[in-house]
Amino acid sequence: MRRFKLSKAFTLMESGPVVLVTTHDGEKANIMTISWTMVVDFTPVFAMTTGEWNHSFAALRKNRECVIAIPTVDMLDKVVGIGTCSGADTDKFARFKLTPVRGRIVKPPLIKECLANIECKVIDIIKKHNIVVMEAVVAHIDAARKEKRTLHAVGDGTFIVDGRRIDRRKMMASKIPGGI
Ligand SMILES: Cc1cc2nc3c(=O)[nH]c(=O)nc-3n(C[C@H](O)[C@H](O)[C@H](O)COP(=O)(O)O)c2cc1C
Repeated sequence: MRRFKLSKAFTLMESGPVVLVTTHDGEKANIMTISWTMVVDFTPVFAMTTGEWNHSFAALRKNRECVIAIPTVDMLDKVVGIGTCSGADTDKFARFKLTPVRGRIVKPPLIKECLANIECKVIDIIKKHNIVVMEAVVAHIDAARKEKRTLHAVGDGTFIVDGRRIDRRKMMASKIPGGI
């Protein structure tokens, strides 16, 4: 994985892919599947909805770090499997044959098999709505990876895969930060 410009990290998330979020509780790493996410601003800050119903949440709240890993369509069954079992009784890296890779700044590992990984610090937890706000500190991409199509959850157990990319960069020039 090579470094991906932090100022462009929001472009990995703006299309709303289903993501895998890794955490570390001090003893072991865990992974959960998250589809409720958003880009909050360009700096880049992201948010996701999650809470105590997930085993990962205790580590997230305690250590305030995570990695947002972006899987692709070939990983669909792992993505669903990870989101339907618990780190309380399962080593998900072993069960789903995923490789943890040490990050540069945070303790939760990157996932080698994913297209991109964004190391994040938790900067706020808005209890009332179970919103976790994260600031990205380093981003990584596997640019050599052939499969780049990400997954989008509909919410009823079906998924949409990335399709055609349409260019309106000129029209949007006034809304796109310099260098993006
Ligand atoms: C496709 C998919 C999307 C999901 N999205 C979310 C989400 O946005 N927020 C959430 O709290 N849980 C979500 N989940 C559920 C968690 O991934 C699931 O509860 C998981 O088992 C948590 O793992 P943990 O208990 O080891 O932390 C999703 C599950 C799937 C399969």
